[in-house]
Amino acid sequence: MQVEVRHGDCLEIAHELASGSTRLIYLDPPFLTQKTHRLRTRDRMREFSFDDLWNSHEDYARFLFPRLREFHRILADDGSIFFHCDRRASHIARTLLDRTFGQDNFRSEIIWHYRRWSNSQRILLPAHQTLYFYSKSEKYVFNQTYGDYSPSTNVDQILQRRRRDEHGKATYDRDDSGVIVTGSPKKGVPLCDVWDIPFLNPKAKERTGYPTQKPILLLERIIKLVTGPGDLVVDPFCGSGTTLVAAHLTGRKAIGIDISLDAVTLARERLANPEKTESPLLEAGRESYRTVDDDALALLNGLDCVPVQRNNGIDAILAENFQGRPVPVRVQRDHESMSEAAGALAKAGRTKYAALMVLVVTHRGGELPLGEALPTGVIAVDSPALQVREALRCRHHDVDQVLLRQEADA
Ligand SMILES: C[S@@+](CC[C@H](N)C(=O)[O-])C[C@H]1O[C@@H](n2cnc3c(N)ncnc32)[C@H](O)[C@@H]1O
Repeated sequence: MQVEVRHGDCLEIAHELASGSTRLIYLDPPFLTQKTHRLRTRDRMREFSFDDLWNSHEDYARFLFPRLREFHRILADDGSIFFHCDRRASHIARTLLDRTFGQDNFRSEIIWHYRRWSNSQRILLPAHQTLYFYSKSEKYVFNQTYGDYSPSTNVDQILQRRRRDEHGKATYDRDDSGVIVTGSPKKGVPLCDVWDIPFLNPKAKERTGYPTQKPILLLERIIKLVTGPGDLVVDPFCGSGTTLVAAHLTGRKAIGIDISLDAVTLARERLANPEKTESPLLEAGRESYRTVDDDALALLNGLDCVPVQRNNGIDAILAENFQGRPVPVRVQRDHESMSEAAGALAKAGRTKYAALMVLVVTHRGGELPLGEALPTGVIAVDSPALQVREALRCRHHDVDQVLLRQEADA
């Protein structure tokens, strides 16, 4: 598929493109961060940077407005534009898009949500960016996609036909004999406007070292939503060329523009060898990373601790440290002997430099063989269920003893 990268100011290069030629424009311009973004490649051999410095909000708006007008011209009548921004410029972008494309052509505000770790500042941790989706007209290409129902969806909601009653309230439809009517097969839940897509991690295969590089997965989703095979996609601020790689992988034509020669060179190199990071998180869902099972978590209820996922030996870390080190906790599983559970905890705890580890013992099956001690630093505490079971067993034993004594005396 024809994909090319052009060097220069997107305002001038857009002049060269024919009116109505483009089905999708995706733009990820500087976000009004008031800084120079700089990053090195993993091998530290190359550094990329671009300026995001403005005299004022008006200055930023004055930069964008003529470009948006030009993008409007090259867009096909059934085409769409996606404007990527964050909290710093979203109000400016929305106003300019309303003016250029018309309020009636506003379609969606998409929240791209991702998880990140950061030191807490005196604001809420930013964990999303915004994409404004406008179309050029009422008639725009839109390929609806569907996802799975949430686990809490009632099966009746999926299977049964709904209708409005005389008060306009939605109810399950029934036939004349009062039997519920089965609806036509459902496709799933239409794609919503909050997109949970992981941010590129530092080790991701597709990471190029270009600052503010976006994930291919995000661009693929946008491209598939509003274009068809063979359509032209334009990215006027293409940076490392993410949109171009996504267009290539989905069989669309694409033109990328960037004012930085380094970006243009990088995007061309990337296109010669397009690489995409597969995301197990997306494929199997966030739940696939859960390793702490609910029964284990329930046993830790009331304990001041943080559950830990994606760790085979540790279920939680206590809120309180011991000797300045974290205190890992593990709940013994049904299939594990005490020795196996303690071993797994000790192994995982050592990698966290823990001096003390707590094993919650849930059953006596496979107790430590005589003479075998718990690994250094591991202490064992019985779960409440185990304590109750053992207390009851003791009582039964005591009662049996009394009865035996009475029988012997008789
Ligand atoms: C946020 S980055 C884009 C990152 C890109 N989406 C990616 O995934 O790598 C913004 C880009 O806009 C470019 N840029 C800034 N002003 C420009 C202009 N007037 N014309 C074209 N590109 C420009 C910068 O060089 C930078 O590469």
